[in-house]
Amino acid sequence: MISNRVFSGVQPTGSLHLGNYLGAIRNFVDLQSDYECIYCVVDLHALTQWQDPAELANNTREVAAAFIAAGIDPETSIIFNQSRVAAHTQVAWIFSCVARMGWLNRMTQFKEKAGKHRENASTGLFTYPNLMAADILAYLATHVPVGEDQKQHLELTRDIAQKFNHDFGVEFFPLVEPLIFGEATRVMSLRDGSSKMSKSDPSEQSRINFTDSADEIARKVRRATTDPEPLPSEPAGLAGRNEAANLVGIYAALARVTVADVLAEFGGRGFAEFKPALSDLLVEKLVPISDQMRRLMDDPSHIDAILAQGADRAAAVADPVRDRVYEIVGLIPA
Ligand code: TYM
Repeated sequence: MISNRVFSGVQPTGSLHLGNYLGAIRNFVDLQSDYECIYCVVDLHALTQWQDPAELANNTREVAAAFIAAGIDPETSIIFNQSRVAAHTQVAWIFSCVARMGWLNRMTQFKEKAGKHRENASTGLFTYPNLMAADILAYLATHVPVGEDQKQHLELTRDIAQKFNHDFGVEFFPLVEPLIFGEATRVMSLRDGSSKMSKSDPSEQSRINFTDSADEIARKVRRATTDPEPLPSEPAGLAGRNEAANLVGIYAALARVTVADVLAEFGGRGFAEFKPALSDLLVEKLVPISDQMRRLMDDPSHIDAILAQGADRAAAVADPVRDRVYEIVGLIPA
């Protein structure tokens, strides 16, 4: 069995933000040296909530451009969009027949996204985790780098793999390991340290987007909510100070040091000193990526060629897995 294959996905649902970068995409880049990596733009997942057809294809290209601009090498890693490889939806159907209603009912992401109008949510939004499990298991992937918010979906993926193996008496699907690492696995809103930085927050001020200019980044950091106290010298002093903890965590992740290191340097100093240092670091790390993204987006046909080639390579891995799944459950193979 494959022992070190990484799979992860990002939805093309609008501008990518700092949470997507620090929680996921930067880790995708780092993992390339130790794993065989498959990175997917999950366009079918995006459809679980309304997407403007005129924008979806472009958003898909933009996520692919962000992957490449951040440092994912499309020659070694596989970059593709989900809808091009039929095995994802084919395996997802089998998983819809394995997963239990009670399991899906517990998913907090569904509850958050459906909000008060649960009856009005698409059935796709409800069964979303089955497709996510299929994304991963169609490659027999063993490791999945994600932000903290996806942990519950990965536990469900393990449950599905386990029940499938048990029901059919096979040792076929691996139990995936989440890879949640770095100092910013849950980046919070710049306006409210108790809610997650998210594409769906109506306030633009709450997040730093990949496409923000240096001036926009500096303005958003300047206006970020903080408290009047100076920074503490030890991590324990951040308890109960969500906004301060978030900004220090972002700095630590970007500088690739620990929170303790940041506080050793900035402890006792106020936000008037810390915020400019943070925005300089953000500009230094993010602006070269957004410049490169823009250059890539100037030639959409080049991105399309990378996605097409990636899809062929992905299908070569996933199709035989799907065939074996069909065989295991008793479908007559093609
Ligand atoms: P998505 O598109 O919402 O987010 C992409 C990745 O970014 C991470 N992330 C964050 N990390 C830290 N702080 C934040 N504020 C933050 N916001 C987002 C997410 O955890 C994720 O890793 N269901 C997935 C997409 C998916 C997938 C998969 C992932 C579909 N199939 C298979 C892994 C494997 C999602 O909605 O991610």
